[in-house]
Amino acid sequence: MARIYLDHAATTPPDPRVLEAMWPFYTTYWGNPSSIYLEGQEARRALDAARKLAADLLGATPKEIVFTSGGTESDNAAIRGAAHAQRALGRGAHLVTTRIEHHAVLHTVEQLEREGFSATYLPVDADGTVDLAALEAAITAETTVVSVMAANNEVGTLQPIAEAARIVRARNPKTVIHTDAVQAAGSVDITPSALGVDLLSLAGHKLYGPKGVGLLYIKNRTPWQPMFLGGSQEKERRAGTENVAGVVGMATAMKLAWDERDARNAHAAALRDRLLFELPERIPDTVITGPTDPAGRLANNFSCCFRNVEGESVLLALDMADIAASSGSACTTGALEPSHVLTAMGIDSDLAHASLRLTVGASNTGADIDRVLETLPAIVARLRALAGPG
Ligand SMILES: Cc1ncc(COP(=O)(O)O)c(C=O)c1O
Repeated sequence: MARIYLDHAATTPPDPRVLEAMWPFYTTYWGNPSSIYLEGQEARRALDAARKLAADLLGATPKEIVFTSGGTESDNAAIRGAAHAQRALGRGAHLVTTRIEHHAVLHTVEQLEREGFSATYLPVDADGTVDLAALEAAITAETTVVSVMAANNEVGTLQPIAEAARIVRARNPKTVIHTDAVQAAGSVDITPSALGVDLLSLAGHKLYGPKGVGLLYIKNRTPWQPMFLGGSQEKERRAGTENVAGVVGMATAMKLAWDERDARNAHAAALRDRLLFELPERIPDTVITGPTDPAGRLANNFSCCFRNVEGESVLLALDMADIAASSGSACTTGALEPSHVLTAMGIDSDLAHASLRLTVGASNTGADIDRVLETLPAIVARLRALAGPG
């Protein structure tokens, strides 16, 4: 039986059109873009063109784009870079983020706390939407960086970034605003000027592009200092020989995602909505996590918890049934902490342990969803019977 991949929030299969665009930069134009001879200049031209394309898609200028190694680096560089630059300007050392960020943001803010910064972690409501009143109350004259994700990777909640940015600006116009748009990109409008943000993170591999490449948008004149020091690449904002093929792939993937956004969303939402509405009918005691209103979440995201089941067992049983799914959180072996996102949403730890995330993508079909709807109820019923009365 063909395998069914339902974990597009973790990563997406590279689009053949992206691979085709990248290939010449491994085979023919493999020069170093910093070299002055022909081979280098060919690579330079590709890099410049990719930067211009990415900038155009973001309504930005090429100077505002720094290519990175992915979402994690972009998040680290955004927050550390702005926090340290702002502190050097004597503007304060208070950071604000939310309790449901990706660990690339949370661990960066926690590290900065160890380096002497203070931080506020904003609460969210039961749907995972950030509390804007708490945001307003948190901003002081000392607040230098605010980081709120555009869409959550576990439960798909879309955050009111533009409104959050307006609140922050009204309280402290000097605060730098960052959004992690790694999951939102390609699904909703993430034009930085429309959102009102100064810094924005993206990753190629969530957009049917390559892994190991990402982008950080840095609005002109934003106080920010680089994390990587060395050569003068990326206008001295990210040292290191550029990943030319990766950058070309990232920009190509962005272009396809932007052009095909409506069709991709419609396809994903039609499949996802069947999970959202039909699974709870087929499996008793299914608790949908994240907004129950489909418009409030990423078009491809379905997430839920099953009472009286161990989430890991569900994932293993699905894998044996040739369905790739996720618990939504990166539970590493030996660290079976309940998801910080679900906990922040007020879900008790027992229920949070039984979480499932199914994220659909371009290649999924109605038949895939039929198979999930047929397979999953039996898996949950069997595991519940094994667990005994809960
Ligand atoms: C919201 C969010 N931010 C950041 C990242 C990290 O991206 P990368 O794995 O490309 O470093 C991820 C990846 O799962 C994510 O979902």
